[in-house]
Amino acid sequence: MKKVMTLLFIAVMIIGCSSDSGSGPTVGGPSGGGGNGGDGNDGGETTEFLKDIANFPIGNIVSAQKLNSSSSDNLGFKEVLLDEFNSITAENDMKVSNMFISPTRVHGHTLAWHNQQPSWFNSFSGTDEEFETAVMDYITATVTHFAEEKDSNGNSIVASWDVFNEAFDPNASSNVLFTKIDDVVAKCFTAARAGDPDVKLFYNDYNIAGSPDKRNNIINMVDDLISRDIPIDGIGMQMHLNHDWPTSDLPSAIQDIANTGLLVHISELDVKVNYGGGQTSLTTDRAQAQANQYQNAAYYFTTIVPAAQQHGITIWGFRDQDSWINNDWPLLFDNNFNPKLAYDGFVEGLKGNAVN
Ligand code: XIL
Repeated sequence: MKKVMTLLFIAVMIIGCSSDSGSGPTVGGPSGGGGNGGDGNDGGETTEFLKDIANFPIGNIVSAQKLNSSSSDNLGFKEVLLDEFNSITAENDMKVSNMFISPTRVHGHTLAWHNQQPSWFNSFSGTDEEFETAVMDYITATVTHFAEEKDSNGNSIVASWDVFNEAFDPNASSNVLFTKIDDVVAKCFTAARAGDPDVKLFYNDYNIAGSPDKRNNIINMVDDLISRDIPIDGIGMQMHLNHDWPTSDLPSAIQDIANTGLLVHISELDVKVNYGGGQTSLTTDRAQAQANQYQNAAYYFTTIVPAAQQHGITIWGFRDQDSWINNDWPLLFDNNFNPKLAYDGFVEGLKGNAVN
């Protein structure tokens, strides 16, 4: 229900950041001091944009879909939006039909990651301290914002957040998050907790099952955070699996993560059947192998993770054609929303039945 809210909220933050060129990003609503900060034109600009000319916010409409797309049309849209405007109206996404679909819980993803960052992260010309403040303020403001939305029982609709994603990716350590901010992972968790005392805070990463070394590094980092009283509640195992990988490491990986005592979330489950390429269709053999992997993931999660630590399993998409890896037939439903063998395997695993 609130995914569009996340996107639109981020858009508001971006607009807020972009409206104050020259003095670095400011975090805040679009109408809080946009333009060139004075009485209209101050003569110092060589290029005038609409937002710089007016003494009041100049807006346009956005959609979550446009904001989240990197097609050239939409990149053009974003450039004009950020240049010319300092206010946004959701064209459709915040209408009741889109906002209030059903009571449900939301997992926020993701407050900090070396990918899918706004372009100003890399062009930022302020000090490292200013950058750190901007990032941490963004995290606290975002968590605070969503903490205010409660269900009828008074619980936050956003139940949990991926605070930091993929710190052990080979491209992470050279990213501005790491080069400009010392001890960035810990600081992000502290900033998130400042926004909501109760929401569950997760560290999320991939190949936790497939790479024992990486798993150890993650567990060591998490243990270190816990020993320093940094607030962390859980670990997200993304679980982007292949039809034949990993095999024997899957249960031991889930056991190792559960042994931290934290919540465990299988956070992005999908199973590729065409990892090496060459598949022109989803063969019965591959479909069955994929079903077994879905069953394994569900079975080991259900039977290994203590109930109190079972945060849940999230599948990363619906139909194969909609997947981020749509050449891999990776999901539970075919392109007509029919359940695949994978679906049946997943059901068996959830019921606690092992692959024969
Ligand atoms: C992917 C989305 O599914 C794609 O639509 C997008 O283009 C790129 O990101 N790990 C993550 C997710 O944590 O955010 C990624 O999602 C998949 C890998």
